[in-house]
Amino acid sequence: MINFLIFGPPGSGKGTQSVKLASEFSLIHLSTGDMLREEVAGQTGLGRKVEGIMQRGELVPDDVVIEMIAERLDANPGAGGFIFDGFPRTVDQARALDETLADKNTSICKMLMLEVEHEELVRRLILRAEVSGRPDDKNLDIIENRIKVYKEKTEPVISYYRKDNKYQTVNGMGDIDEIFHRLCEVIRACI
Ligand code: AP5
Repeated sequence: MINFLIFGPPGSGKGTQSVKLASEFSLIHLSTGDMLREEVAGQTGLGRKVEGIMQRGELVPDDVVIEMIAERLDANPGAGGFIFDGFPRTVDQARALDETLADKNTSICKMLMLEVEHEELVRRLILRAEVSGRPDDKNLDIIENRIKVYKEKTEPVISYYRKDNKYQTVNGMGDIDEIFHRLCEVIRACI
């Protein structure tokens, strides 16, 4: 089993690139954002609990996402590997993921960090707001809050993986296919 994290601020292209990488390398794509949006759309108990938090661009509680990821890992025992998108977002989530993977005799191979300029993040999310209907893309204040929350709560996860030499930056500016090729090169070097 070979596992990767795709990492970066909101709008850096994690979701876009994860779908392509999952297909290219036969990995299972696990996006906590997508899972949570499904819960909200279905108006489940969990969905109602997290809806307001997501609309404000804040993080949902660690235990919620840790449990969701553990369930998906258990549900795919024969998987060749996973690409984690939007998880972990806190150091406690990173520790929990390591423990869960260790129980399955596996680990994270690389954290792929998409580096994108602030103005480009905002440009992409404002553009997506026109079509996505995502409430957290709705206005500039929420977009800026998501980026602020990323810097305060999620960036510390970089140090967690850097100490194990698992942190790898990738230029996330430019054309989608060009960025995809840069990511593929890093992954091919691992497998
Ligand atoms: P999540 O769904 O993870 O959202 P995010 O991190 O804010 O990321 P985005 O989906 O906005 O951006 P992305 O980096 O995936 O870029 P994308 O490919 O979509 O999380 C949403 C919320 O859920 C969080 O705020 C939080 O509340 C909660 N949550 C989720 N996980 C959590 C966790 N682990 N812990 C706690 N809370 C959690 O691209 C963005 C746009 O840009 C698209 O329109 C795309 O087409 C376009 N685009 C992509 N690449 C390019 C390119 N190269 N050039 C031009 N346009 C591009």
